Amino acid sequence: MEGGKRACVIGAGGFIASWIVAKLLDRGYTVHGTVRDPDDDEKYGHLKKLPGAGERLLLCKADVLDYDSLVRAVRGCDVVFHTACPVAPKFEDPDDVLKPAMDGTRNVMEACHKENVKRVVFTSSGAAIAYNPNHPQDQIIDESCWSDPESCRKNQHWYMLAKTESEKLVSKLGDEFGIHVVVICPVFVLGPILQSKINTSVGIVANLLNGSKTSYPNTFYALVDVRDVAEAHIAGYEDPNATGRYFCVACSKLCKEMIETLKAKFPQYSYPDKCEGETTQGISFEKISNKKILSLIKEFIPYEKMLVDTVASLQEKGLL
Ligand SMILES: NC(=O)c1ccc[n+]([C@@H]2O[C@H](COP(=O)([O-])OP(=O)(O)OC[C@H]3O[C@@H](n4cnc5c(N)ncnc54)[C@H](OP(=O)(O)O)[C@@H]3O)[C@@H](O)[C@H]2O)c1
Repeated sequence: MEGGKRACVIGAGGFIASWIVAKLLDRGYTVHGTVRDPDDDEKYGHLKKLPGAGERLLLCKADVLDYDSLVRAVRGCDVVFHTACPVAPKFEDPDDVLKPAMDGTRNVMEACHKENVKRVVFTSSGAAIAYNPNHPQDQIIDESCWSDPESCRKNQHWYMLAKTESEKLVSKLGDEFGIHVVVICPVFVLGPILQSKINTSVGIVANLLNGSKTSYPNTFYALVDVRDVAEAHIAGYEDPNATGRYFCVACSKLCKEMIETLKAKFPQYSYPDKCEGETTQGISFEKISNKKILSLIKEFIPYEKMLVDTVASLQEKGLL
C-alpha cells in the first residue's frame, strides 16, 4: 500500500496479536509481523490467510532476545505493538518468563530508539495491576494500582512479576528515549481464536467443556473479548489523546456462572460439577473500574457473545 501507515507487531502469531494484525490489515496498514519461524505454517499459516495479508503483511523472522532481528523488523514503522511474552499457568523457572519479558522489552525499546520509532503500544496485563495482598478491601481497582513485586516473588508468581516489572521498564525506557508508550492491561482474554492451537486463556474455557475436569475453581474471572483487546491496542496508537495505562476489563464472572452460561448454549459437553474451596477468590466487578478504557472502546462485546464465539471458534477448528 502506498502512503499508508506501517505497523510492526512483535509476536504476531499469538492469540491477541493475530487479532491486532487482522484489524490493522483491515484498516489498510502495512504490517511487519514478527514470528520466530516464518516457515512454520502450523503456527503462523493463519496470518498468511488474513484478508489483505498477500499485499500488506510481511512476516519477519525475529526473536525478542535477538536485538538485531528486532532492528530489522521495526525499521520504517510508525508504531510498534509489543505483545510477545510467554503465557502459561505456571513457570517452574522464573527466567522462562522474566528473561523474555525483561530482556525482550529492553531489546524492543532499544530497537525502536535506534530506528526512530516514536510510538509503542505495550501489552501488559491485569496481572500487573491486581495482585496486591495489601490493597485495601474497600478500594476500587483501577490504573492507579500495581501488583506488589515482593508478594509475587514470595509466592513465586513469576508471570505476574514479569508483567509488572516489564511494564515499569517499558514506561521508563519510553521516557528515557522520548518514545510515547501506551500500555494496555487486559484481564483474562477470551473470544474466537484465529491461530490453529489453543492458547492458555482460551484453554481454561476448553477445559470446562472437554471432560478433563470434574471440579471447577471457586473464583471470579475478570474477562474481556480478544477483539476488544485488539481494538484497544489500535486505539492506543490512533487516538491522539491516548496516554498511560488502560485497565482492559469488560466484566467479572464466577466460574460457576460461566459454566451455567456455557451449559445453556452447549448442553452436549460434560462440565465439571464440584466447586473447589469454600472461599471465593478473584475480584467481583463492583471492585473494578473500567472507566478509563471506555474512552478507547465505546462498548464491550457482551459476555455471552464472548463465550459463545470462543466455543464456536474451537468447534470450527476441531479443537473440542
Ligand atoms: N490471554 C490472556 O488472557 C492475556 C491477559 C493479559 C495479558 N496478556 C498478554 O498478552 C500477550 C499475548 O498473550 P496471548 O494470550 O496472545 O498468548 P499467546 O497466544 O501464547 O502468545 C504469546 C506470544 O508471545 C510470543 N513469545 C512467547 N515466548 C517468547 C519468547 N521466549 N521469545 C519471543 N516471543 C515469545 C509468542 O511467540 P511465538 O509465536 O514465536 O511462540 C506469541 O507470539 C502477552 O504479553 C500476555 O502477557 C494475555
